[in-house]
Amino acid sequence: MSVFDLLSILSGLSLIFMFILNIKPTLTKNFKRHSPPGPRPLPVIGNLHILNLKRPYQTMLKLSQKYGSIFSFNMGPKKVVVLCGYETVKDALVTYSEQFGERAHVPIFEKIFEGKGIVFSHGENWKIIRRFSLTTLRNFGMGKRAIEERIVEECQHLIQVFESHQGKPFETNTIMNASVANIIVSILFGNRFNYQDPQFLRLLHLIGENVRLAGGPSIMLFNMFPVLGFLLQDHKTVLKNRDELFSFIRMTFLNHLQKLDKNDQRSFIDAFLIRQQEEKDKPGDYFNNDNLVALVTNLFTAGTETTASTLRWGILLMMKYPEIQKKVHNEIAKVVGSAQPRIEHRTQMPYTDAVIHEIQRFANILPMSVSRETTKDVIFKNYYIPKGTETIILLTSVLQDQTQWEKPYSFNPQHFLTVEGKFVKRDAFLPFSAGWRMCAGESLAKMELFLFFTSLLQKFIFHPPPGVSNMDLDLTPDIGFTLRPMPHKICALPYS
Ligand code: HEM
Repeated sequence: MSVFDLLSILSGLSLIFMFILNIKPTLTKNFKRHSPPGPRPLPVIGNLHILNLKRPYQTMLKLSQKYGSIFSFNMGPKKVVVLCGYETVKDALVTYSEQFGERAHVPIFEKIFEGKGIVFSHGENWKIIRRFSLTTLRNFGMGKRAIEERIVEECQHLIQVFESHQGKPFETNTIMNASVANIIVSILFGNRFNYQDPQFLRLLHLIGENVRLAGGPSIMLFNMFPVLGFLLQDHKTVLKNRDELFSFIRMTFLNHLQKLDKNDQRSFIDAFLIRQQEEKDKPGDYFNNDNLVALVTNLFTAGTETTASTLRWGILLMMKYPEIQKKVHNEIAKVVGSAQPRIEHRTQMPYTDAVIHEIQRFANILPMSVSRETTKDVIFKNYYIPKGTETIILLTSVLQDQTQWEKPYSFNPQHFLTVEGKFVKRDAFLPFSAGWRMCAGESLAKMELFLFFTSLLQKFIFHPPPGVSNMDLDLTPDIGFTLRPMPHKICALPYS
């Protein structure tokens, strides 16, 4: 049964329901007075009939024009609150950090991770695992020189692959994911994978497919009506992929366990296993195997898809706007020359820095961030939002806020430059979100983006394949939990 068959059955059911019971889709008078405005929900399906299931963030953007920066929306029977625009989002994430600081209980993620790990965990478990993760990632070099060396080394492997295509067109999806994944993987497992390693390619495939399906129409329906799971093929695929991924990670940490040496911790997994042994006799059971498997999966996924897709957007945008690519080339030639690009070069490269920031703003990788949930009843902007309400942080509306950006819908590096050409930070630049649950890998991602982007542009000039004009390049994002570019080919010619 297709998603759309299901939709028409649900719409029909809701109309019959209304007719028989003569239910008026209203809330109690008192609640309605204070709750954020929003489109009128139908019984059972809520506002499903007006939701763009492929690109829900577009529906939300449209609704914000009518209802303002805070409104409610019924995802099936579940009422969620949507927050839009820089001022409102910043206020919620920073001033009301605690109130909006919980991760939403989204059925598909609850089913996959059962509240374990970091990204989709809750309460005390999340606090302890996040603290452990940040400390351990830093101990293994996140944001420091040690990881810079690793990234620089990985850039060389990537450059070799680009060179091997000898200027002929090729797809970048798998290779970019593999190269970026190797950075987080070497922290997690203590080794990198060869790009041809079938097991590595399989893991990347499983992660890529789950990220794509998690943002698709079928899983969105599952999240609204979990009881329909048995009818939805994508839901089964996601769980099957999860099982395969989890069993690989379990196998890996069992290997680590055999060679574990407290005085020679080689990886994030080792550090977790040592902590597990130390905590054995203490109350609470946070450092258990299930938390380890979910945490490693979370970091692997979060640390791969987002950064790799941003870099692919970067190359696509350089092909689309050759005059901008030329300015980046010139700055690299002037500041770095033929030396290896390093983080220390960044402050001398305002134009390239501005271009990378603008790529992130324009790419808008997580348009609805990762849903939050209120930790208590909260009065926000004079509206009452009860404890446990799923809250969508519409990052698109911040990264394209017309009150903050001069040309919100264009690719315009000037957003991050003063008239004198100096780099300037912008408050509404929030691709990593903010507050309690903000991205745990921001410093790693920023380092990766700068080093991969400058290393590639130092060596190559990027063109669309022969016969394709830069004007024809499609900037429409693909469907998925993260916004990736549509499949496309690039030509990497030597830059000299
Ligand atoms: C361009 C790259 C990246 C972008 C745009 C990005 C963006 C985000 C966003 C928007 C969130 C949701 C935050 C919230 O709820 O407020 C998030 C969460 C997270 N990110 Fe990233 N991310 C990137 C790279 C990374 C990397 C490299 C890692 C690897 C360590 C990572 C690890 C995480 C984790 C663990 C969370 C969950 C945090 C929590 O729930 O406490 N991210 N990221």
